[in-house]
Amino acid sequence: MRHADDPALFLLLPEEFANNFAVINRSMIEVKNISKSFGEKVVLDGVSAIMEPGKTNLIIGSSGSGKTVFMKCMVGLLRPDDGEILYEGKNILAMDPQDLKDVRTQIGMLFQGSALFDSMTVENNVRFPLDMFTKNSKKEKLHRVDEVLSRVNLEGSNKKFPSEISGGMKKRVALARALVLNPKYLFCDEPNSGLDPQTSLVIDKLIKELTIEFKMTTVINTHDMNTVMESGDHIVYMHKGKKKWEGSSKEIIFNDDKDLNDFIFASEFLHKAKEMSRMEAEGKM
Ligand SMILES: Nc1ncnc2c1ncn2[C@@H]1O[C@H](COP(=O)(O)OP(=O)(O)OP(=O)(O)O)[C@@H](O)[C@H]1O
Ligand SMILES: [Mg+2]
Repeated sequence: MRHADDPALFLLLPEEFANNFAVINRSMIEVKNISKSFGEKVVLDGVSAIMEPGKTNLIIGSSGSGKTVFMKCMVGLLRPDDGEILYEGKNILAMDPQDLKDVRTQIGMLFQGSALFDSMTVENNVRFPLDMFTKNSKKEKLHRVDEVLSRVNLEGSNKKFPSEISGGMKKRVALARALVLNPKYLFCDEPNSGLDPQTSLVIDKLIKELTIEFKMTTVINTHDMNTVMESGDHIVYMHKGKKKWEGSSKEIIFNDDKDLNDFIFASEFLHKAKEMSRMEAEGKM
């Protein structure tokens, strides 16, 4: 198979596709050997991983395994004790403040628990990053707010307050806010926490569609097995602060890692479903 950087590949591709391919290929995040401790407690212990460009990358693992700390290190909210975090080959831990600010404006983040400002309307919550990072006119900002609210199917909710909307709507407002600066990289920490399974699927589908539509590199922290099976282009499994396994949602069903299996197929029902999938794949059913 040709390597993505092979210039000959571009000669073989139609121009439009080659351009898209070049954009996607550049937006890779590479984490090299990062460690993070709080006092005596080692939370990340030499984690290396690649967040594949243009894909939905999932970080999975049980509660306390270090997913949120890992994500906060990747977006520059926490500084690891060791290691490198490369955006398009450049280490954000060694960048000057202006370059770091440039990278940050390309990052959208949906925090665990949505983190909306309760005293602000939906419109002002979504507008907040535009006020912080752009000099656009009020009219331009409101136009952009309407655009992203409509993309998450929340048109007309501008004047509502967070306390007046459901959990699923809050997640969509948080997603609209994460998208408002048109990011290249989208990070979502537990986008389904507190939602029913059907609403969770709607959010998953939306994130997956947006990833493709805006050619983003998306990283999602999740416990949700539906997300793992439906959205995991590339999955990283964290266990006790280390990366224990990585692969695709197809490969995860047949993995041989005991901790990963105990985590994913925790219930008797899922354990049986796994056995049936294996037998089907081996042609025994
Ligand atoms: N600021 C901090 N100070 C001290 N310890 C911390 C801090 N942030 C996280 N930790 C610890 O790091 C460990 C990993 O936490 P983290 O929030 O990354 O887990 P998680 O995998 O995201 O869990 P969950 O699935 O419950 O969200 C936990 O033991 C937590 O107590
Ligand atoms: Mg977490």
